[in-house]
Amino acid sequence: MRRTRISEALNRHAEMDQILVKGWVRTRRDSKGFSFLEINDGSCLTNLQVIVNETGAVHDTLHQAVTGAAVEVRGALVASPGKGQRWEVQATGVTLLGSADPETYPLQKKRHTDEFLRGIAHLRPRTNKYGSLFRIRSECAYAIHTFFRERGFYYLHTPIITGSDCEGAGELFRVTTLPHASQTGPSGATSFDDDFFGKEANLTVSGQLEAELFACALGNVYTFGPTFRAENSNTPRHAAEFWMIEPEMAFADLDDDMDLAEDLVKYLVNHVITQCAADLELFARFVDKDLMANLEVIAGQPYVRLPYTEAIEILQSSGQSFEFPVSYGVDLQTEHERYLTETHFKKPVIVYNYPREIKPFYMRVNDDGKTVAAMDLLVPRVGELIGGSQREERLEVLEQRLRDFDLEPEAYWWYLDIRRFGTTPHAGFGLGFERFLMMVTGVTNIRDVIPFPRTPKHLEF
Ligand code: 4AD
Ligand code: MG
Repeated sequence: MRRTRISEALNRHAEMDQILVKGWVRTRRDSKGFSFLEINDGSCLTNLQVIVNETGAVHDTLHQAVTGAAVEVRGALVASPGKGQRWEVQATGVTLLGSADPETYPLQKKRHTDEFLRGIAHLRPRTNKYGSLFRIRSECAYAIHTFFRERGFYYLHTPIITGSDCEGAGELFRVTTLPHASQTGPSGATSFDDDFFGKEANLTVSGQLEAELFACALGNVYTFGPTFRAENSNTPRHAAEFWMIEPEMAFADLDDDMDLAEDLVKYLVNHVITQCAADLELFARFVDKDLMANLEVIAGQPYVRLPYTEAIEILQSSGQSFEFPVSYGVDLQTEHERYLTETHFKKPVIVYNYPREIKPFYMRVNDDGKTVAAMDLLVPRVGELIGGSQREERLEVLEQRLRDFDLEPEAYWWYLDIRRFGTTPHAGFGLGFERFLMMVTGVTNIRDVIPFPRTPKHLEF
């Protein structure tokens, strides 16, 4: 007999004389002559209730079907007389697939803290909260592909090992096959001649540069892949390994970029609201009471578009005492971003036209000569969700920008070639997938929205 997934069983319109389900026991309760098992197989948040009549011939291993054990249940799916569920299974057979020692199985019926669960990241998807979270994560990934596919974007795989530093922030994880000792020569300088690639290699911080090359051939492309940053900041918003979605459009300017960013965020939030209702409700009930109201605003209202200069003015006249003082030319910190979006506007804000000194070399210099065509999309709770820009398409300006940042134009010959041959305005952005998941679930720590978080001094699992 084919296994029926619990989500499918619970959505049935009619009873089933015979059903086979498999899953893990969440709870078990014994009363006179009966045992009640709550089984979950990961297909949905709701457990399936199984009634085992102890006078039947089903229970030679029943006593081992305790919390955490894997079981196989045969029986009939019948309407449940009990409250809270529509269907239940009257078991005719229960087989133990894998036992779980109640003395050592860490997930008992009580509620566990996020910190505790982080230490058992291999088991936390078996809890209600993390089961819901990772189903939502999967659904969002799917929706991202749908969004871009519907708009004629091609899905591009950019390299994970690269020889360049797109963001120029030096937050690179080195990739090498050299043994430790030979990494530095007598002078103390690193010699890469003997290394695998014969030059310095690192894990990518962004697929943008390569995405630009392909946008200037295929028109519209997007990447969706892992990204690595060795920034040693132990914050609830930074991970050393995270996933980023990076669309890139040819024949597009900063306005087009902002439009796409706003459309994407709204689309994804709407998708989660309509497709993940049961899982989302858990977060609205137990994690963030204002979640649904916030999401309605994010999905429904037009976003504020605010030049950087005006953002600085708002912050300066806010009367807030920020840890990092505000003046023209500073980069916005999370506290500033959150003030703008959470307190001042109470909705998403796109700040654009930042001073050129605080943004990477590739952003297009505006006519004022002082700012670049950059944009950051800020959302309540999270701060920066998206960073993007129109790209510098003028060869000479770009070469000068590289030199300004102490980068060698020769090393970027392939990137500059795109400005030599058929150059055109183009624009794109990067959306941090984990930041999006934090926003959509109300979870406040990035470690709790990625299956196995990588952060400073943490590399378990
Ligand atoms: O603003 P960032 O650094 O932009 C870029 O990498 C551009 N090359 C993107 C582009 O234009 N194609 O990063 C983009 C987004 C941020 O807004 C943030 O959401 C997320 O990536 N992000 C991180 N998420 C988790 N942990 C980190 N350490 C992150 N750093 C950036
Ligand atoms: Mg940024």
